[in-house]
Amino acid sequence: MSGSIKKSRILIANDSSLLEAVKLLRNQQVVAIPTETVYGLAGVLSSDTALTKIFEAKERPSFDPLIVHVELEKPSFAELMKTKLVDADPLSDHAVKVTDQLIRKFWPGPLTLILPKTENVSDLATSGMPTVAIRMPAHPVTRSLLKVLNEPLCAPSANRFGRISPTSAKDVMEELGDRIELIVDGGDCTIGVESTIVMVDPENGTPYVLRPGGVAIEDIEACLGKKVKKQTEMPKGEESMPIAPGMLKSHYAPEKTLQILKKPLNDNWEPPFSVAELPQSVGVLAFFGNEDEIKSKIQKNWGVSDVHVRVLAQNTGDWSLAAKNLFKALRELDATHATQLWAEPCFETQGLGYAIADRLKRASI
Ligand code: TXA
Ligand code: MG
Repeated sequence: MSGSIKKSRILIANDSSLLEAVKLLRNQQVVAIPTETVYGLAGVLSSDTALTKIFEAKERPSFDPLIVHVELEKPSFAELMKTKLVDADPLSDHAVKVTDQLIRKFWPGPLTLILPKTENVSDLATSGMPTVAIRMPAHPVTRSLLKVLNEPLCAPSANRFGRISPTSAKDVMEELGDRIELIVDGGDCTIGVESTIVMVDPENGTPYVLRPGGVAIEDIEACLGKKVKKQTEMPKGEESMPIAPGMLKSHYAPEKTLQILKKPLNDNWEPPFSVAELPQSVGVLAFFGNEDEIKSKIQKNWGVSDVHVRVLAQNTGDWSLAAKNLFKALRELDATHATQLWAEPCFETQGLGYAIADRLKRASI
């Protein structure tokens, strides 16, 4: 981290700002870049100096490995092998086939694959693990950047460790504005939650979801024609199958404490606290419905006058739209005067609703 930086510059993505980003990256600096999921804090994989700067700027513990971002001309397992980042030796023919199917279907896009690494991948990037997390992002700005740079970029989400991921250049400024030189502005992220992380068992090809995210689990199952397993179903104690170390329980969290309501709002307008504990002001995150109506119902039923409501997807029933707005809404509620934050419970097991349920669980106390 450079102590001399006073304030980051936000530059709209165009030819000249991309060249500037390339120059900084080649100079072992870190740059915030847009992806379709969330903004990333990028540094070249080839420089341990750059990777150290990523960990420092984020205050990220060194045991939490990074995701490597690559650009492939025609995404396939064979093309990925040309990057020389993946060691195919431990992979059975079936594991290769499954990996190839996933790459062809979901890259470029919000799917990260955990694969055996070669010695070209620094131990800093993988926190000393024998595997590497790789994805090919879909955002046109970052794809152009990777093409010009012609080398892979490590990029974790561009937030301070444990905090809400940024989905706009302004969010990155809020998180890291005093720590990095350049933020490339590629607009608001279209997906809004991080990539789905999948580890394919090197021997039997069984896919395990380590983090739900931008690719729906059922789409992965449809692609492979079989059920995927959860991280909790992974065989224990196998060195080749490390549990995702970054999947800490408390993550994606606002500064204010966030609690989850027991029941969806429309079923139950009961206050979640007793009269004695009545707060002065609350912030409420709801999925669907009308903001003003929800606000007045809460004021009436909870007996709180200062109520801040964010509805993620109005009356659409669209969980993808809800995911796109999730982190922005949490940030906005965090910035209000509310002394308590409450979120509706999410019981979805499909689509982007499943990723929302995961993030809210980790963001809450
Ligand atoms: O959408 C995304 O994936 C975004 C954008 C910027 O690409 N990136 C992102 O990175 O969410 P980050 O660092 O916030 O989360 C990466 C997570 C780590 O916390 C860790 O759990 C998992 O990826 N990971 C990385 N390498 C791994 C490995 N070798 N084995 C298991 N999990 C790994
Ligand atoms: Mg993150």
